[in-house]
Amino acid sequence: MKSLFILILSLLLLSIINCYIIDGPGPTTRPTVGQLWPKPQKEERKTGQYVAIDPKNFNFVISEHTCDILMEAKLRYEDIIKGMSYYPSAIPKTEPPCTEYEYDDGSNEIPKVKIRNFTLILSSECEKYPHLKMDESYTIDVLAHEIRAHSIWGMLRGLESFSQLIIPDTNEMLQIEINMVEDYPRFQHRGLLVDTSRHYISVDVLKTILDGMAYNKFNVFHWHIVDDQSFPYVSKKFPELSEKGAYFAEMIYTQKSVKEVIEYARFRGIRVLPEFDVPGHTRSWGASHPEILTECGSPYSGKLGPLNPIKEKTLTFLKSFFEEVSDVFPDHYLHIGGDEVGFECWNSNEDIKKYVEAKKMTYEQLEDEFNVKAAGIVSDNVKIPIVWQEVLNENLHLKLPEDSIIQVWKPMWQVEMSRVTTGNWNTLLSSCWYLDKLKTGGDWKNFYDCEPTAFPGAEKQKQMVLGGEACMWAEVVNNANIVSRIFPRASATAEKLWSDVKVNNKTEAAPRLEEHTCRLINRGISAQPPNGAGFC
Ligand SMILES: *[C@@H]1O[C@H](CO)[C@@H](O)[C@H](O)[C@H]1NC(C)=O
Ligand SMILES: *[C@@H]1O[C@H](CO)[C@@H](O)[C@H](O)[C@H]1NC(C)=O
Repeated sequence: MKSLFILILSLLLLSIINCYIIDGPGPTTRPTVGQLWPKPQKEERKTGQYVAIDPKNFNFVISEHTCDILMEAKLRYEDIIKGMSYYPSAIPKTEPPCTEYEYDDGSNEIPKVKIRNFTLILSSECEKYPHLKMDESYTIDVLAHEIRAHSIWGMLRGLESFSQLIIPDTNEMLQIEINMVEDYPRFQHRGLLVDTSRHYISVDVLKTILDGMAYNKFNVFHWHIVDDQSFPYVSKKFPELSEKGAYFAEMIYTQKSVKEVIEYARFRGIRVLPEFDVPGHTRSWGASHPEILTECGSPYSGKLGPLNPIKEKTLTFLKSFFEEVSDVFPDHYLHIGGDEVGFECWNSNEDIKKYVEAKKMTYEQLEDEFNVKAAGIVSDNVKIPIVWQEVLNENLHLKLPEDSIIQVWKPMWQVEMSRVTTGNWNTLLSSCWYLDKLKTGGDWKNFYDCEPTAFPGAEKQKQMVLGGEACMWAEVVNNANIVSRIFPRASATAEKLWSDVKVNNKTEAAPRLEEHTCRLINRGISAQPPNGAGFC
């Protein structure tokens, strides 16, 4: 009896020690090798069967249509692939299996080929600017050595995927697993909001962020360019806005740098969606144009509040300013905010008080009246407005242009998404993807758990969800840490918005995200660790 007990005890102890030994040293999550992020809709891998690429003798060959975007992408991805010979240190040597390299002699069942040329078959003419309804589908056939796409935007996504399939090997060679990829996004609007008002973010850092976005197949750069704290946008018509409203004379986006950002994004298939938030969040506008803000009365006398909604001057100013930005930013959409308007100041201003009393309206209705006018100005400039959810707080059937988009950002988003889509509005979700909210550990998992259509509603309502955006509010980030705060946490959002609804297993995703983080770092994106201890 006693010996049996000792035997059981020692077995138990042994198993504990064994566990410890099995877990052993090494990273918390071992990265995958040559897996895609975001996960494609369809892949047919011949597992373990690789063909070789000699980075020194590798070219993309453009077939059928071409344009400046494709020619630049070709060079960019050839550089990325050539740069990969320095990548092996990031890849565990023990995995994966490596094949030998020989030129194809036609006799083997598994061709042992060195790929020299990979053909880019673009079957229609390039569009100039990316847009909401762009076609981003593509196919990759490794054995046929080709990427096919109907549109330039699909070709860009295909090139990104192709570059992710390639893995380094010994002897300065690269290899790629035999594979057929058929891919397209689940949602059309896959955005990242970057706030450049709370902290000024340099154009160089914005470009790095755009690179990171392209590596994650994001397609909308939501530029929250001005806010209460600073006004860095240099207006052509009203240069005094940034002269007085920017933090410092250097902390500005000139017309030239705005163009540069738009162009850099365009070459990566990313829309630049500008936001000029009204009527709240406008304190920095008041540094040069106090006449359009509300003069608060007692007990806030001497302070300025939100835009004054009843002054003719405010609307004249907005007409002129929105006309300018509609011209500067080529995207079809203009975000005009509409969030977090406090009524204390309006309620303390005698003229506004008289106005609402005469019209027998509430402050909510006054706000609605203003929002409808602001949205009307957007329409007059042949753009479509996007607004934050508060705009529909009072009236779900507010007279906004029909195809306006409502962006949901508050907690309890399921209720709001349900409500907004009942009103037949196009909707974007952001509530679950606030990058400024930090949790310890691999907090990308919280982002990954968020399914944008998981709210009560009919199928028709779910179809009103155009996608979503991860939001990088900049109170807690500056040039020094913004990139590592965004990546790879926003990658979780990117996959939720690109991949099939069934791609939702964090255990499966973690090693792929670990590899993707190594990849981002290798390409100059200073991504932070997603999963704990690791070697990237
Ligand atoms: C590969 O591409 C190069 C450069 O574009 C071209 O000169 C060469 O003929 C191509 N080779 C094959 C086998 O297609
Ligand atoms: C998630 O993936 C892991 C690893 O592949 C697997 O063991 C697990 O069963 C999956 N979980 C679900 C809920 O499918």
